[in-house]
Amino acid sequence: MAEKKDYRLESETAGSQFDLEIFKRLWKYVKPYKLLFIFSLVFLGLATLFQLSIPFFTKTAIDNYMSQDYKYIVSSSQMDNAIKIDAENQQIWIQKSEEGQFQLMFQKTENETGFNLTNGEKSYYLSPEDMEILRKSDINSLNTLVIMLIFVMVGNFFCTFGQVITSNLMGQKVILDIRDQLFRHLLRLPMKFYDQNPTGRIVTRVTNDTENLNEFFTSAITSLIKDVLMLAGIIVFMFIISPKLTGYAMIIVPFIVLATVLFRIFARKAFRKVRTRLARINAFMAEHISGMSVIQLFNRERAKQTEFSDINQSYYKSTMQQLMVFAIFRPTMDLLFYLGMTTVIWFAAADLLSGTLTFGILYAFINYIDMLFQPLRDISEKFNIVQNAFASSEKIFNLMDEKEGIGVETKNISKSVTKGEVKFEDVKLSYDGEKQVLKGISFDVKPEEEIAIVGETGAGKTSMMNILTALYPIQGGKIKIDDVSIYDYQLELLRKGIAVVLQDVFLFAGSVLDNIKLFNEDISDEQAIEAAKYVHVDHLINKFENGFDTNITERATTLSAGERQLIALARAVVSDPKILVLDEATSNIDPVTEALIQDAMKKVSCNRTVITIAHRLSTIRSADRILVLHKGKLIEQGSHEELMKLDGVYKQLYRLQYDLSA
Ligand SMILES: Nc1ncnc2c1ncn2[C@@H]1O[C@H](COP(=O)(O)OP(=O)(O)OP(=O)(O)O)[C@@H](O)[C@H]1O
Ligand SMILES: [Mg+2]
Repeated sequence: MAEKKDYRLESETAGSQFDLEIFKRLWKYVKPYKLLFIFSLVFLGLATLFQLSIPFFTKTAIDNYMSQDYKYIVSSSQMDNAIKIDAENQQIWIQKSEEGQFQLMFQKTENETGFNLTNGEKSYYLSPEDMEILRKSDINSLNTLVIMLIFVMVGNFFCTFGQVITSNLMGQKVILDIRDQLFRHLLRLPMKFYDQNPTGRIVTRVTNDTENLNEFFTSAITSLIKDVLMLAGIIVFMFIISPKLTGYAMIIVPFIVLATVLFRIFARKAFRKVRTRLARINAFMAEHISGMSVIQLFNRERAKQTEFSDINQSYYKSTMQQLMVFAIFRPTMDLLFYLGMTTVIWFAAADLLSGTLTFGILYAFINYIDMLFQPLRDISEKFNIVQNAFASSEKIFNLMDEKEGIGVETKNISKSVTKGEVKFEDVKLSYDGEKQVLKGISFDVKPEEEIAIVGETGAGKTSMMNILTALYPIQGGKIKIDDVSIYDYQLELLRKGIAVVLQDVFLFAGSVLDNIKLFNEDISDEQAIEAAKYVHVDHLINKFENGFDTNITERATTLSAGERQLIALARAVVSDPKILVLDEATSNIDPVTEALIQDAMKKVSCNRTVITIAHRLSTIRSADRILVLHKGKLIEQGSHEELMKLDGVYKQLYRLQYDLSA
């Protein structure tokens, strides 16, 4: 069935793995913004360090200044000589005691309420004044700690801010450059490329694919680096605080690795499916929106609806599969997290009870384990973005590797078309390398001659003009203008010398005037209007709502086919070309208007070469010479009268038309 078109396009090959080649090419785009990149890394490093140090601070606060346990005995004047309280300076001298751990206990005596510092055997009484002095140093240290903590948090705030700004700036600039380069490249690609690639796909390259890269640069790359830094940092901090507990916590690591590896495998599969099917939806949509009128006219709505439902369903299924992978992964990681936590608490409890572990260390540890899982979850989920970005980069680079130019060596001679003499010498053309479209065409057009080309549909008339303007390369023979091969001209100068009214007129969004000038600043409004007047199309344009300022929407669907041709005619004349090519330029125009334009063309052709292609033979009767093309070959040529006398293909064509229209 013809309808079972391959909407899979190129996407089955999508989703390449991390590839060093691609990475190197991406780096080339980052290079100009190296400084931004470095800054973002520095900010990132600092922010990570700040974040990592917070549990460390808390641990210090708890263990050193909040705890009621003193490994050190507190001096007081009433106690042994080893203990000293300097009331004047509000200081307590603390010395290491041989007597084990002391605990501070609240104590109420007859006359005073105070604290008892005891290790079970010995106990010392501390008056409220003593206590105040004792706690003062703690509170002072705590205050310093809080100030430092605030500093760390503010630092973290600014570093994170700086990191987000710099990395986004870098990402956006890189994408800006890539998009610019892509479009510049597209402008120089041969027509063959556009014949072979659907518009939807090319647009996707410039929009979606660059957007994927953007996400990669702005969020994935930095957060991945951050995640790795965090992981390494957390493990280092954990190790510093307690190597033993770190050991306990590491028990779950193999499970995490296993879960992550499995996730990667399944996520990759699911991701590929989603991408492929989404591409299918996009391609289907793009095509059917352009062809909506055909669908409606031929009552294909219901069939198309079913077709789309199938594609849509399969996309839905693949996203659900992807969702399942994530749905299983997330709780698995949570489970591992709680298992890790439980393991640590289990082992720590014993140490805590035996006094070899402080509460602050446990607190910090639990915090670190919590922090450890964040990057682990993140890395796996950012994996999607990275995968996306690499698949997109590969496609973008493939597009960039498409060869520019028309596929022939050009000599780039800085020469303008001055006379307008055209010569075809045994020219052969095949678009695909198989089917011969032009099979050895030879003819001359003298400067300022007016010739016409006629021939059946598909004979190769448009193709002749396609190669004259170097839109497509030829496979044999020579095409010369003013006795110089067209490939020796600078392309720009060659095309400046030839103006074409294409068979399919294309207008851009903008005013009528813009479309005549084709946004060329060198042409003034007056010149454009003058040109329109010259070919007698001005009064028709003036019938539009706003005359020359009438806005034309994209694809010019609001204009009639004839109106579009008129604008194109003015567009061709305004640049004052030496050679004017009219490919069915007046085929959609009513006979009265056409007669008017015919008249104008006489003026137009007096100082330039005009090549007219037409099916309506009445329009070319006055041409100096008529070439008859038949199946890629020139079979007759001469003036109308000569050809009629010849009694060949031309005469047959003419008679048929004449009889039909009569
Ligand atoms: N870009 C292209 N790629 C491949 N084949 C093409 C391309 N353009 C035209 N052809 C083929 O080349 C042949 C000649 O096409 P061409 O457009 O030159 O015909 P034509 O004489 O202008 O016909 P018409 O009178 O219908 O405009 C046709 O068989 C067509 O299928
Ligand atoms: Mg044609």
